[in-house]
Amino acid sequence: MGFLGFSWCSAIAVLGLLLNAVVFCNGGTTSAFVRPVEKTVDMPLESDVFLAPHGYNAPQQVHITQGDHVGKAVIVSWVTMEEAGSSTVLYWSENSKNKNKAKGTVGRYKFYSYTSGHIHHCTIKNLEFDTKYYYEVGIGHTARTFWFTTPPEVGPDVPYTFGLIGDLGQSYDSNKTLTHYESNPTKGKTVLFVGDLSYADTYPNHDNERWDTWGRFVERSTAYQPWIWTAGNHEIDFAPDLGETKPFKPFTHRYHVPYKASNSVAPFWYSIKRASAYIIVLSSYSAYGKYTPQYQWLLAELLKVNRSETPWLIVLLHAPWYNSYNYHYMEGETMRVMFEPWFVQHKVDVVFAGHVHAYERSERVSNIAYNVVNGICSPVKDQSAPVYITIGDGGNLEGLATNMTEPQPKYSAFREASFGHAIFDIKNRTHAYYSWHRNQDGNAVEADSLWFFNRIWHQVDDSTSTH
Ligand SMILES: [Fe+2]
Repeated sequence: MGFLGFSWCSAIAVLGLLLNAVVFCNGGTTSAFVRPVEKTVDMPLESDVFLAPHGYNAPQQVHITQGDHVGKAVIVSWVTMEEAGSSTVLYWSENSKNKNKAKGTVGRYKFYSYTSGHIHHCTIKNLEFDTKYYYEVGIGHTARTFWFTTPPEVGPDVPYTFGLIGDLGQSYDSNKTLTHYESNPTKGKTVLFVGDLSYADTYPNHDNERWDTWGRFVERSTAYQPWIWTAGNHEIDFAPDLGETKPFKPFTHRYHVPYKASNSVAPFWYSIKRASAYIIVLSSYSAYGKYTPQYQWLLAELLKVNRSETPWLIVLLHAPWYNSYNYHYMEGETMRVMFEPWFVQHKVDVVFAGHVHAYERSERVSNIAYNVVNGICSPVKDQSAPVYITIGDGGNLEGLATNMTEPQPKYSAFREASFGHAIFDIKNRTHAYYSWHRNQDGNAVEADSLWFFNRIWHQVDDSTSTH
């Protein structure tokens, strides 16, 4: 019995090694691109990107995000500094003269010695799909007008283009990343933001003025297209030494998300549908163990995804599960252990993470066979598994993550320590074109790219190592 057991074990082990050797015969690429070595420095407070709009109580830090589950509502948020003023949004479609009104709410918060401006949130509902709307916030001669376009109605073959930015901060490099994204000839219509917004917590006493400057800096994009927010560690703002013990206080006051529309009980995990994509946002910094609210929510949520309606299943989270840099190494491991089997079972197409200030793309791999005693704990190629992309390369003051584990793990398809952004361009239910753009290049240059084949409708090997 013992001998027989040993034989089988050996045979399985040898087979496993052979399989590994076969499936991983092509190793990944560590980019040879050489960057100029420059310090990453925050833009000074007097920079033009931080200028407040002129006039008494003029709305500033304007940003929008999806306001319901399907894209017929928008949450409009802004800040007025001098007084509460009006929380009403006036809005009208491009082809209509009728102006509609929606009433919002206003509030402020204190953080240590800082008191915020008056933060307004207003959800405008029952919008038409695929329609350009103008909206106006503020009153009198300091009213400001912006516009956005609602997404097409949810459907399986609806093309849609997402931008991807993470760990942005407010350095000169952050500005280059945002400008590069705006200049990309493939125009992103919505930003999937994978966490770490302002980095205000890196300043003395978590200087919340840096939340305000960040809001003014990104307004040129966030006022005109929705940014889908993921919470990162720099949103926690947990500072017991300052008497600030409620995590996520500035973030939750400033950035609202439509979490109730997906039956979530907290704004850190939620889902939306947009065009042909189903987007699940998870929180690396909220409990996800068995029985926790996030665990139970995700368990139920994955069963709700109808891939005949939304073929593309995309997950956003902050701490990457597959990361071969020597920064934040294995910080995403406990969440991976909890949720990775579900992602494989439900054939998630792609997982975007931030946190590591560099770029990395994985092969389709899974690591779900381990059961404490069997020793099977290496990632293996798996065509039901997502591609994992780390896009924490927005350009914040902490600088680049340049140290990598060597040799490059087999699961890592491509990695490079440069700042940049990415585009996920869905064509139909089977194909999406993905590209990563480093800041040093021209607007149309793709430093990494591949065709994604949908895991439900076209589940053939799309790894670059097979091309
Ligand atoms: Fe982070």
